[in-house]
Amino acid sequence: MILRKQFLEHVGQTSPSPMLIEVARAEGSFFYTPEGKRYFDLVAGVSVSNVGHANPEVVGAVQQQAADYMHIMVYGEMVERPQVEYARRICELMPATLDCLYFVNSGAEAVEVALKLVKRCTGRTELISMRRAYHGSTHGAMSMMGNPEGEEWKGAFRPLLPDTRAIEFNSFADLNRITERTAGVLCEVVQGEAGVRLPNPEWLKALRERCTEVGAMLIFDEIQTGMGRTGEMFASTKYGVTPDVICLAKAFGGGMPLGGIVANRERLNAFTHHPCLGHITTFGGHPVCCAAGLAALNYLTRSKIVEQVETKGALFERLLTSHPKILEIRRSGLLLAVELGRSEYLYKIMELFKEAGIMSDWFLYCDTAFRISPPLTISEAEIEECCELIIAALNRL
Ligand SMILES: Cc1ncc(COP(=O)(O)O)c(C=O)c1O
Repeated sequence: MILRKQFLEHVGQTSPSPMLIEVARAEGSFFYTPEGKRYFDLVAGVSVSNVGHANPEVVGAVQQQAADYMHIMVYGEMVERPQVEYARRICELMPATLDCLYFVNSGAEAVEVALKLVKRCTGRTELISMRRAYHGSTHGAMSMMGNPEGEEWKGAFRPLLPDTRAIEFNSFADLNRITERTAGVLCEVVQGEAGVRLPNPEWLKALRERCTEVGAMLIFDEIQTGMGRTGEMFASTKYGVTPDVICLAKAFGGGMPLGGIVANRERLNAFTHHPCLGHITTFGGHPVCCAAGLAALNYLTRSKIVEQVETKGALFERLLTSHPKILEIRRSGLLLAVELGRSEYLYKIMELFKEAGIMSDWFLYCDTAFRISPPLTISEAEIEECCELIIAALNRL
């Protein structure tokens, strides 16, 4: 109680009604309160904890690296093994043109760097994003927020970046709005905060072609879809479309704060001149975060967890889909939006979930669907148990 009171007094908040669940520890698919109440974690810190909470390999790597060395010097000056190895491993998993990784601290910062890079490389200023896109909360990333409600999210923070515009995700007609003036187009491969909206694969290809045709750079935001969430290590590979820049964060740090952009070496070198220090960041690529990310990647590849994601996602879908309160399930791998169609239902179900020991959430631009994006390590038996709890809660709606 006292901790909750102090939380409300001294820890900054952004929501008028925080969840106020105290966390004592977390393991695998669950976290626990000090009283021992167990919660199924269906949020995973918003697609962060892909390798499960307290993954022993990640914990071990963090402990070892913290003991070896932590921060030495701003990123990009010293040769630090965790950064080098992690960058090499990620680039090996990417198409050959994406061979260089610039480390930052978060998703929003990765987006900032990507936007700066496309302006720097093309000499143009126009930046295009998609309606209902979410790319982060800093000024630049927020400028690319393509929210349909007009000024609701952005109005209070203007002026934002000039020369930005939003086009419709999956609209072939809107591709014509990408022109010789456009420096870059920023796009989530699967729109997350819009409530899990899948791309038309043909549209993604056409988007790539249009960017190439007019000389605009294509940036994929894989911050939520990366590191196995959709059933492939990266969603762009799943759709066979190669962008010019990929933004990574969230699960990329294995539970530690880390972001990055992957691009072609020659293009990224633009940050070394006119001006040099084109983007600098003290803690970007922190060795402990890189060690955690690398350990998580090693775990994901060795345990073949990513190969199981599609089956596990399909199991959630199969067990829930026939419930009469569920109108639709939108899904890519283990990223699911369960559509109830009414926000009153959603507010109520969140309360029922809390009681039942389930942590879910809604989406920034969709308050009629709840989120299922658990650690990718969740077992089939856990999915079955969790769906029983979800159905019992839905029956009480
Ligand atoms: C697709 C996408 N891009 C960018 C971000 C921003 O990442 P961060 O919160 O690390 O700044 C998010 C966060 O939810 C996201 O979902």
